[in-house]
Amino acid sequence: MLVLGIETSCDETAAAVVSDQAPHIRSNVVFSQLAEHRPYGGIVPEVAARAHLTHLDPVIERALEEAGVGFDDLDAVAATGGPGLIGGVIVGVTEAKAIALARGLPFVAINHLEGHALSARLVAPVEFPFLLLLVSGGHCQLQIVEGIGHYRRLGTTIDDAAGEAFDKGAKLLGLGYPGGPLIEKLAQSGRPDAFNFPRGIGRRDELDFSFSGVKTSLRYQIEKMTAAQVQERLPDLCASYQQAVLDALVRKTRAALRQAGGVYRSLGLSGGVANNRTLRVLLEREAQGERIPFFAAQPKHTGDNAGMIAFAAWIDPKGCDGSAGFGLLVEPSATLAPLAPDDLAPAHL
Ligand code: KG4
Ligand code: ZN
Repeated sequence: MLVLGIETSCDETAAAVVSDQAPHIRSNVVFSQLAEHRPYGGIVPEVAARAHLTHLDPVIERALEEAGVGFDDLDAVAATGGPGLIGGVIVGVTEAKAIALARGLPFVAINHLEGHALSARLVAPVEFPFLLLLVSGGHCQLQIVEGIGHYRRLGTTIDDAAGEAFDKGAKLLGLGYPGGPLIEKLAQSGRPDAFNFPRGIGRRDELDFSFSGVKTSLRYQIEKMTAAQVQERLPDLCASYQQAVLDALVRKTRAALRQAGGVYRSLGLSGGVANNRTLRVLLEREAQGERIPFFAAQPKHTGDNAGMIAFAAWIDPKGCDGSAGFGLLVEPSATLAPLAPDDLAPAHL
């Protein structure tokens, strides 16, 4: 089975071809719109939607070419149906539906978060149930992945996502966008204990995140310094800020693991922030402490990409039989799973 996947929910225009023979991902083309958004210091939804319109056709063409297949070889077309910026999602879904309709193929709408959730499984067939920390520019969640298509959200952010915290922090420091990689690079030569930024972890048993406090605290710190002092202390500021954000992620993940009392078979990490090497090392340590394997999505699958969307459609071919799809309206605020009620503790798995 060959699936063409399309991802246009944010600022990456992406297309990929996945087949059932390993290696599953036959091509994975990502066009980053960074240059188009950089002058604004962040993503502008209207700019993103227009850029998807411009770039999607050539990106699909390249994905097919690199996979060595044509439209005639495809068995299904999948696209991100949400969550995401509505203009971009409409572009991707409409294009995917048009291809499917013209070729008589099933169209499959994939939840963007499911794509991220399963991307750790591209590394190895991670055993279920696993605990997933999904950290990107738009999301910051702890999910129980009970099986393909079965997700339970344990915690989420009550304000900024982790990647957003990095992006906003970098903006305050005048570093540019996206902030995560820039902060990580500078942090390498700084001291993580140079500044004491709040962790925003709230109650230990609560698994929600909050990053607005650490961001505000960075702003106050910068306001107390001259521009020259900020420049001079950039590595220390970055290292301390990164430490505060990562500390919250690690502590909540640890709490989720402890609360489950050994139920999880592994720990997964995905989303753009999963590129952070310090985070990978810290979470690997947590998994070792629980004697379970740790799987992090590969850097090429951490950011937004269509490989994860096509893979999600292929691995769970709901609707690939043509029974679903064309009536789909895009869902800009789709969630992967409702927040688990208190009585659905992981011990009930
Ligand atoms: O998954 P992604 O490409 O897009 C969303 O779905 O949001 O994630 C992008 C986010 C950005 O906020 C970026 O700053 C962050 O991931 N990021 C990082 C690193 N690389 C990317 N954050 C921390 N450290 C990194 N190395
Ligand atoms: Zn994403």
